[in-house]
Amino acid sequence: MNDKNLTHATGAPVVDNLNIQTAGPRGPALLQDIWLLEKLAHFDREVIPERRMHAKGAGAYGTFTVTADISHFSKASLFAEVGKQTPAFVRFSTVAGERGAADAERDIRGFAVKLYTDEGNWDIVGNNTPVFFFREAAEVVGSDRESHLRDLYECIESGEFPRWKLCIQTMTEEQARTHRHNPFDLTKVWPHGEFPLEEVGVLELNRNAENHFAEVEQAAFSPANVVPGVSFSPDKMLQARLFSYGDAQRYRLGVNFNHIPVNAPRCPFHSYHRDGAMRTDGNLGSTLSYFPNSFGEWQDHRQLHEPALALDGDAAHWDQSVVEDHYEQPGNLFRLMTPLQQQLLFQNTARAMGDAPVMIKHRHIVNCSKADPAYGDGVAQALGLSLVAQELENAK
Ligand code: HEM
Repeated sequence: MNDKNLTHATGAPVVDNLNIQTAGPRGPALLQDIWLLEKLAHFDREVIPERRMHAKGAGAYGTFTVTADISHFSKASLFAEVGKQTPAFVRFSTVAGERGAADAERDIRGFAVKLYTDEGNWDIVGNNTPVFFFREAAEVVGSDRESHLRDLYECIESGEFPRWKLCIQTMTEEQARTHRHNPFDLTKVWPHGEFPLEEVGVLELNRNAENHFAEVEQAAFSPANVVPGVSFSPDKMLQARLFSYGDAQRYRLGVNFNHIPVNAPRCPFHSYHRDGAMRTDGNLGSTLSYFPNSFGEWQDHRQLHEPALALDGDAAHWDQSVVEDHYEQPGNLFRLMTPLQQQLLFQNTARAMGDAPVMIKHRHIVNCSKADPAYGDGVAQALGLSLVAQELENAK
């Protein structure tokens, strides 16, 4: 049959796609109209669970190119030499909105990068917490719910390829141990003054996805996907995320989600994982399924053990709220803002706190005051509240 022929999923030709089978021209439908049943059954199953967060997103393919040598910091193969290129897939997202949310809504932004390196896939799953100096872009939300997705798509189609520099910051283990802030607390920054940015490479996006569901919706990023030369920090949130993403993806896409083309490595892979729902890649054929074996098949790579990391400390539920300083850095950021920006921050905060109970507004004002007294005063004024010193004291 030629390519234009409509067929059942099994390949057999569809006889009539416009008229269902009925008992007489005005009679009820017949159960033997299997094309009708097949279409309904497929339609009924088309919606898969959306990502629990970051449900709304847009994605594109591109290339990462190394521009500076950092092979003394990492043996990751993608950094092996200046000029080396690695294919990539990137998904941008908002966080709180559902799959149908508008792109321009006030929200954190997600930026997930999958690098198909020649030693496996490395995912960088990051957020950007932009400071919004404007009111909700209400008119954008109203007139174009896909404003960012469209922008990305059109830029790439017109050959205006978006590009980003990748920079790193480095800290020695000794500096990490003795720094006054826990460098692995993700609510902290590593100040650029102390730990300057060093450029490493450039990421360019140059090809749109062809099918949103297949490539963007089914893309599965995880901070657990690392390659030799990249490792995990003791950041507590990262540690929880190492489990959560794969777990969500096994639920959302099924246990064999790594075989979906957008997720599959571009280098040879062999894991001994077999079977499971929706196995469509030949299931490792007749290769050996046990380890160790006497045939030298599918060996692990002991030479890739990381240098041992010394750990100590008593196992306990350590309360970070008491051992960490949470106010210095927000205060520094506040003091960097112009008076106009500070004013907009007060107003945005007041609007966002909306109808929260007064007691919670008070608590927030106290937190802002600890970062900078002028910050607390400004938010209090914008909320139409004033706190006497005693209340501030009590709320500590
Ligand atoms: C313990 C805290 C967190 C948990 C449990 C968590 C869990 C998750 C889960 C389950 C997903 C959906 C995965 C999927 O279905 O494919 C997701 C998506 C995402 N998370 Fe997190 N997350 C946490 C914190 C963070 C942080 C701190 C960042 C940024 C540094 C982040 C960035 C992202 C991004 C960018 C996505 C979307 C990935 C995509 O485009 O598919 N998450 N997260």
